[in-house]
Amino acid sequence: MVKNTKHFVCSACGATFSRWVGKCESCGEWNTLVEETVPEAKGPKMTAGKGGHPLELVGLKGAPEVIFRLKSGIGELDRTCGGGLVPGSVILVGGDPGIGKSTLLLQAVSKLSQGVNKQGHPTRCLYISGEESVDQVRLRALRLKADNSPVQLASATNIRDVIATLEAGPTPDILVIDSIQTMYSDMLDSAPGTVGQVRAVAGELIQQAKTKNFVLFLVGHVTKEGMLAGPRVLEHMVDTVLYFEGDRGHHFRILRSVKNRFGATDEIGVFEMTEEGLQEVPNPSALFLAERHGNVSGSCVFAGVEGSRPLLVEIQALIAPSGGVPRRTVVGGDTTRLLMILAVLEARFGVSFSNKDVFLNIAGGLKITEPACDLAIAMALLSAYRQKPIPADMIIFGEIGLSAEIRAVPQSELRLKEAEKLGFTKAFIPVNRQKKDIRTSLKTYPIGHLQSVLDFFAH
Ligand code: TYD
Ligand code: MG
Repeated sequence: MVKNTKHFVCSACGATFSRWVGKCESCGEWNTLVEETVPEAKGPKMTAGKGGHPLELVGLKGAPEVIFRLKSGIGELDRTCGGGLVPGSVILVGGDPGIGKSTLLLQAVSKLSQGVNKQGHPTRCLYISGEESVDQVRLRALRLKADNSPVQLASATNIRDVIATLEAGPTPDILVIDSIQTMYSDMLDSAPGTVGQVRAVAGELIQQAKTKNFVLFLVGHVTKEGMLAGPRVLEHMVDTVLYFEGDRGHHFRILRSVKNRFGATDEIGVFEMTEEGLQEVPNPSALFLAERHGNVSGSCVFAGVEGSRPLLVEIQALIAPSGGVPRRTVVGGDTTRLLMILAVLEARFGVSFSNKDVFLNIAGGLKITEPACDLAIAMALLSAYRQKPIPADMIIFGEIGLSAEIRAVPQSELRLKEAEKLGFTKAFIPVNRQKKDIRTSLKTYPIGHLQSVLDFFAH
């Protein structure tokens, strides 16, 4: 009989402890330890060095194996995954409930099932839902006009049944588990969705994906606090982590890779949620700028880069008289950066915001965390402060340092090229200290210090 032992796992970082403590010694979080039962390994206890085989050691040089990638036919998804799906890899798709994870994956398997795998056979796709009944998924497929594709569907929550299906074969090329929080293993006492369950279930599925060489998609719900249970722990176990972001009030959805063993991270895919599911957005800048009104004070266009992709977005600032404690509100950006920019403007140039409420908004529901947006934020703030509009055909990028210097940012040419494509003609950019030529047809105004921006608004 398999004996069970108990230990405690931190739900934030996944560290294990033999006894319960209030504070995780590994990540410093409080009250994150939960009890977990683990079946003890069968067979004699392992001693280091015994029963192993000497490894075959090789040199650093050698032709790399060309990685085969399955193409989902959804360009935005393929690019975010590094150019396609690598057989044997495990992809975690996290995001708030209702953001569109199930929709995206159903659309993806529907397309994939119409293609062929490495051997040239039709791609076998399995979609296992623990959240919805077969009828509910079918209804969704009907709405997405995907009901005619040869995807195989089941509704299940017991991991034993899923593993039995895989063992019985034939082996799939793609397996979607929607969601990992609904799956459970009856080897453990804990409820589905707890860290112990999520880890155990994911562990078994990952092992299957690696030995049978299929692509495993795990859906994981994430709440505002960071997680329902599990996804953070899961991040360490999987090859690729994609976050599906967006605001339910907006129709844009961003698929962002935050970890990828088979490609670049920070790559994004942009989608629009429509009546007929998710549509790819090949030119997101045009979409994000579609509702912009030129010649309004407090608004400017920031030329950003997400992963390898340039993205123009509108930054809006509003300054209003404060009725008490001044408020600083940021939608879609980083509050700390706004506070820093306000502090630089106050301390270095005496522009006082002390009796004013400041609101900053990244239009379209996008989240920007790049330091390159500092200059655009400062210009939006000054434009609102001085009630002077910024030319509508101007783009801005650059980082601001604490002594008000403007710092260079990566990929200037890419940003300018995107602006050129969308018909912009002027750009406020950091001084080019590298002396490397930047080719652009835009009229550029290189600036080295925030003083130049204040002078711009003084005229
Ligand atoms: P869903 O994929 O179920 O989200 P998740 O799996 O992340 O919880 O998406 C749910 C939302 O998407 C739901 O509010 C309805 C909306 N939706 C559309 O707008 N159009 C569609 O074609 C589909 C299928 C869903
Ligand atoms: Mg879902």
